[in-house]
Amino acid sequence: MKPLLLAYPGNEAIGVSLAEALSAEYTLPEMRHFPDGETYVRISADVQERDVILLCSLDRPDAKFLPLIFLAETAKDLGARSVGLICPYLAYMRQDTRFKPGEGITSTYFASALGRHFDWLVTVDPHLHRHKGLPEIYTIPALAVHAGAAIAAWVRDNVPAPLIVGPDSESAQWVAEVARAAEAPYIVLEKHRHGDREVEVSAPDTRPWRGRTPVLVDDIISTAQTLIETTRRLQAAGETDIIVAGVHGLFADKAYEELCAAGVQKIVTCNTVAHMSNAIDITALLAKTVEKLMRAQKGDGG
Ligand code: R5P
Repeated sequence: MKPLLLAYPGNEAIGVSLAEALSAEYTLPEMRHFPDGETYVRISADVQERDVILLCSLDRPDAKFLPLIFLAETAKDLGARSVGLICPYLAYMRQDTRFKPGEGITSTYFASALGRHFDWLVTVDPHLHRHKGLPEIYTIPALAVHAGAAIAAWVRDNVPAPLIVGPDSESAQWVAEVARAAEAPYIVLEKHRHGDREVEVSAPDTRPWRGRTPVLVDDIISTAQTLIETTRRLQAAGETDIIVAGVHGLFADKAYEELCAAGVQKIVTCNTVAHMSNAIDITALLAKTVEKLMRAQKGDGG
C-alpha cells in the first residue's frame, strides 16, 4: 500500500509536491481548538498497517509541537506500521551548549522529545554547530538534506557573475559548497553577536571582485539583522546590487520588510518554510533522502 503523507496545516504547497515525488497518498488532518484552547485532531484517511509520513516544518515550534505529537500518537494508535517526520526546518538547534550557568540545552531535550514519538526524521540543513551531526542528539534514524546544490543551481541560473558572501564562520560550510557548485569565488566575514538583534559584521574587501554581484548565503534568516549588517558593510564597500539567498526564511516580526528596506535587490529562500520569498525548490532532494531512509527502515525491519 502507498505510504500516507499527512501534511500539517501550512505545509500544503510542499506537501503536494513531496507526495507526488514519493508516490504517496496525500492527506490533511482535521484539526481545531476546543473553545478552552485544547487541540482536537482527527485522521480520516486509513492508516492501518501503513507507513505514515508526517510533514511539518518546525518554525514557530512551540504552538505546533503538542498537536504534532497528538497526530503521531493518533496514527500509531490507529494501527500505522511506522510514523516518520519530515520537518524541512528543524527547530531548537541553536541552544546546543550551556552558554550561561542555569540555561537548558534545548537542542538535546527537543531531540529526545521528538524521538519518543517518531520512528525516523528527515530535515534540511539543521543548524549544526557544536553538535557534529544529528546522531549525536537523535536516537532515531535522522538524516539531513543539504540545500547547497539547489541554492547553487539557482545562483547559476540567475546571477551571471556572482561573488558568494558568508556573514560568519558558521555559514562557511554552505558558502563553500554553493561557491564550488556555482563555480564562483567566495568570502566569509566575521560576526559578533551582542544580543538577539545586535550583531556586528566585519568589513569585506570586495575590490578583487569588482563587477560581480554579491550573493549573501546563510542557513537561517530570523531577525535578519545578520544579513542587514552584512548588506550595510557591502554597501559601504561600494556594492549596490546585493542578493540574499537563505535556506530557512523564518523572518521574525518585520524582518522581511527590514531586509528589503536595507536595499537588497532580491531575497530568495528554499521552500523549507512557506514564504513569499520561496524560489528554490528542495522537494527532489528531500524525496530522495526520505526514500533512502524508508528503504533502509524496511530492510532493517525485515
Ligand atoms: C547563526 O549562526 C545562523 O547561521 C544565522 O546567521 C542566524 O541564525 C541569523 O539570525 P538573525 O537573522 O536573527 O541575525
